[in-house]
Amino acid sequence: MPELAYVNGKTTLVDEAVVSIEDRGFQFADGIYEVARSHDGKLVDLDRHLARFERSARMLDLPLPMPLPELERTCREFYRQTELPEVILYLQLTRGAARRQHAAPSGLRPTLVLTSRAVTKPTPPRFSAITVPNNRWKMCACKSIALLPTVLAKHAAAKAGADEAIFVGDDGLVLEGASDNIFAVKSGVLFTPAADGRILEGITRGRILELAPKHGYRTIVGPLPLDFAREADELFITSSVLTVVPIVRLDGRPVGDGQPGPVSLAMVKAYWDFILEVTGAD
Ligand code: PDD
Repeated sequence: MPELAYVNGKTTLVDEAVVSIEDRGFQFADGIYEVARSHDGKLVDLDRHLARFERSARMLDLPLPMPLPELERTCREFYRQTELPEVILYLQLTRGAARRQHAAPSGLRPTLVLTSRAVTKPTPPRFSAITVPNNRWKMCACKSIALLPTVLAKHAAAKAGADEAIFVGDDGLVLEGASDNIFAVKSGVLFTPAADGRILEGITRGRILELAPKHGYRTIVGPLPLDFAREADELFITSSVLTVVPIVRLDGRPVGDGQPGPVSLAMVKAYWDFILEVTGAD
């Protein structure tokens, strides 16, 4: 089955889906999104992604087009139609289409878009990263579609020959990757920044914080200074798309011995075991 798109109730091929040029998502990035993955025909943590979708919508005073349980049914039915076992399910909600003016007129019909794209690349075994200044706004807990700082950070990483960019605040604290959360490992303890509004509270990050203690690792959620991260034994990033990926070089220097470390690899395995368990795959 080819990749499909859903726009406000109508499902078509991705290439045939259309939204208005007056959509406020296109004009103002006035909207939110979510990204979830499937494995073996089942969506992973869809409930958690939809709960965050609702929180993001609330932060922008953006009405959901339907109650959450109906949205979940819509996602599942849409995904069922795609008949692809491994997809990235993308949800986007904007305030709708209207003649361009900054303040939105009342009574708009929100635009809900879903796409289901086949996972084409295997999870990379390791990444290199650069650090970039955090030039984002103060509502990073909201998964807003206004992603220009992220796009520029990824562009800088690519230009530097790296795979990912890590945002670092003016106060020298490591925050998160451009599209993932970060963990540092020191003496077998996992450190990750708090979800205090300066990062997106990742669903995968949450799962790692639950899984690590079950595998005998202590976790500490709190400030992660760049100097500490540079001296860490290991670094890894987490996201629904990437799952768990060790960072082996930061700003051109090796992290630890420059190889994926044992704790990172244990978390890669723990997370994939979790996926296999919840999707019922062998
Ligand atoms: N990004 N931090 C940021 C800034 C992100 O954009 C993401 C996800 C994450 C990880 O969140 P989760 O574990 O819930 O996927 C952290 C998605 C994958 C994206 O923008 O494509």
